[in-house]
Amino acid sequence: MFNTMTVTKAAGALIGSLLFLLLTSWAASGLYHVGPSGHVAEGEAPPQAYTIAVEGGGDAGAEAGAAEEQVDFPALLAAADPAAGEKVFGKCKSCHKLDGSKGTGPHLDGVMGRPVASVADFAYSDGMKAHGGNWDPEPLQVFLTDPKGVVPGTKMSFAGLKKPEDRANLIAYLQTVN
Ligand code: HEC
Repeated sequence: MFNTMTVTKAAGALIGSLLFLLLTSWAASGLYHVGPSGHVAEGEAPPQAYTIAVEGGGDAGAEAGAAEEQVDFPALLAAADPAAGEKVFGKCKSCHKLDGSKGTGPHLDGVMGRPVASVADFAYSDGMKAHGGNWDPEPLQVFLTDPKGVVPGTKMSFAGLKKPEDRANLIAYLQTVN
């Protein structure tokens, strides 16, 4: 005879065993599941869920900076190629003219040896006015390496020339433009 009690017990047993199976398979997958394929050959690293991207900025930049400090700039400049420097000047052209007229930046004809921030009709930033000195090769190559780092608050939106050869060639070119 089926009475309510029998049905309830049968249903309870069924649900109980389903729940048990469910929990077992969940626990097992938690313990043994290794990756999408589930197979890892011996001696092989298990598949990685994700790769951590490491930015080249921080340490790599610091190392490059340290390496650049060992560059013998006067020797590079002595061996520099003004024609190659004219090509590098292509990066400056949009802002700097060589005919004595003002662009986004001050004109750069005759800049070599010129006192810093000395073009009369140009509104220099306070940072540039505070720089002092003349644009001799050494201060110029330092400035061009990292304009914003060397002259805080500069209006010159230019990332810099990281290659010492580019700076040397460019300065050799600027020495020919008076
Ligand atoms: C996006 C525009 C821009 C670019 C590109 C740029 N400059 Fe400048 N530059 C400026 C501005 C603006 C100033 C004035 C900075 C200030 O007052 O802080 C300046 C200032 C200078 C000065 C100081 C001049 C002075 O009279 O004291 C030099 C030298 C210079 N730039 C060289 C270069 C060279 C070389 C390049 C290319 C490698 C270059 N700049 C690229 C905008 C630019």
